[in-house]
Amino acid sequence: MKSIVILISGRGSNMQALLKAQLSCHIAAVISNRADAPGLAIARQHGVPTAVVSHTDFADRETFDAALATCIDQYKPDLIVLAGFMRILTPAFVTRYVGRLMNIHPSLLPAYGGLDTHARALRDGVKIHGCTVHFVTSDLDHGPIIIQAAVPVLMHDTPTTLAARVLLQEHRIYAQAIHWFCEGFLSLTVDGRVLLHRVKQPGCALISPGLF
Ligand code: GRF
Repeated sequence: MKSIVILISGRGSNMQALLKAQLSCHIAAVISNRADAPGLAIARQHGVPTAVVSHTDFADRETFDAALATCIDQYKPDLIVLAGFMRILTPAFVTRYVGRLMNIHPSLLPAYGGLDTHARALRDGVKIHGCTVHFVTSDLDHGPIIIQAAVPVLMHDTPTTLAARVLLQEHRIYAQAIHWFCEGFLSLTVDGRVLLHRVKQPGCALISPGLF
């Protein structure tokens, strides 16, 4: 059975969804860069070991990332799952875990990398928004895409209501992506795209605001 480590910085709702998803893998630990991350208590309630590597204890990104890697490696994970981990990772860290470092981002990448994705989507008046699970590369929020979920943007949405609609889908697709990884259904092509093996692809169109 494969083993994963989850990195968080805050409330940990994606992490909680993964803990509840009964994935076919061992969740070896939850690690936070913030000792006050509410998600740590949730992990402990599920009996998952936790650790804190505080970025404020280190002079620069390089030394923090090295300490984080040392902490991660003691659990010998097959996959490192970023679930609301709010630190930009150094190229050395990303290279060390290439092909086994996953992130979830609250937009349909490559649109809206970075922060404030929901407010930016609303400002642009897009009618469809969503979330993306991808492998991490040094190119922030632009690694090979594994799975995306799209949601409609509704007329009276605020960043808060839109974020809540997207978050529900985040909780579904992250578990799916990790399941695929753990079952060996994912591989990367030489040109950096994700291939799915033995996966049905029914798909359906989302038209927003719809045809009347
Ligand atoms: C999520 O929206 C995730 O996509 C983004 O940060 C947020 C973390 O939320 N990277 P949570 O801590 O999982 O509740």
